[in-house]
Amino acid sequence: MELSYMPLREQICDVCHKMWQQGWVAANDGNVSAKLEDGTFLATPTGISKSFITPEKLVHIDRDCSILEAQEGYRPSSEMKMHLRCYAEREDVGAVLHAHPPVATGFAVANIPLDEYSMIETVLTLGSVPVTPYATPSTYEVPDAIAPYLQDHDALLLQNHGALTVGSDVVTAYYRMETLELFAKISMNAHLLGGAKEISRENIDRLISMRQGYGITGRHPGYKKYADEKD
Ligand code: 13P
Repeated sequence: MELSYMPLREQICDVCHKMWQQGWVAANDGNVSAKLEDGTFLATPTGISKSFITPEKLVHIDRDCSILEAQEGYRPSSEMKMHLRCYAEREDVGAVLHAHPPVATGFAVANIPLDEYSMIETVLTLGSVPVTPYATPSTYEVPDAIAPYLQDHDALLLQNHGALTVGSDVVTAYYRMETLELFAKISMNAHLLGGAKEISRENIDRLISMRQGYGITGRHPGYKKYADEKD
C-alpha cells in the first residue's frame, strides 16, 4: 500500500523501517512522532531498533509527554522534548523525524551547514539547512537549541548529532529527510569535484516563488517575502 494511504500507526512504522533500511539509524537511534486530530501524539518508544517497530509498540502521549496509552515496558522516546517543541512552535507541524543519515550527519559533525543554493530541487523544498548549536540529547538543551531555527526551516542539522525534519504529515517529514540526505551526498560530490556552482539570485527567487504552484507546504528561509506579497 502506498505510504500516504496507510493508517497513521503503520505509516510511522513504515518510515522507521525505511530509515533503518537506508542506514540512517543504528541500534536504537532515531525517533518519529505524529500529531493526532485531538492534539495528542503517537511516538516511537525509547530504546528500540527502528527495524523492530510494530504499530502496537507506539506510545500515545499528551503535549506534556504524559503517557495516555502504551504497552507495558514501553516509554516515549527520550527525544520527545525536542519533538514536542516542534509542535509547540509550529501549528502547521504534524510530524517530526529524527535520524542520523550518514552524509547529512557528516556535515552536522563537521559543523558545516548545507547552505549553498546549488541544486534546484533543494532550493525549492528546503532552502538552506543550518547547524543548530551543540546540545545534550534528551535534555531541554535540545529544544532550546533548535527553537530559533524552526521558524524558517523544516530541516535542521543538529551539531555533533544528526538531523531533524518536520512536516505537515509523516510522509512529508520523511520526504524532507530523504531530500536532505540526497542533497548532502550531492553537495559532497560537488565539493570533491572542485565545488558547487551556485544558482543566481534571480533564479533562486524564481524557484522560491514557484513553491505554492507545486503545493509545497512548510517554511523556507527565503519564502517570507513571497508569503508577505501574497497577503
Ligand atoms: P530514543 O531511543 O530515546 O528515541 O533515542 C534515540 C536517539 O536517537 C537519541 O538521539
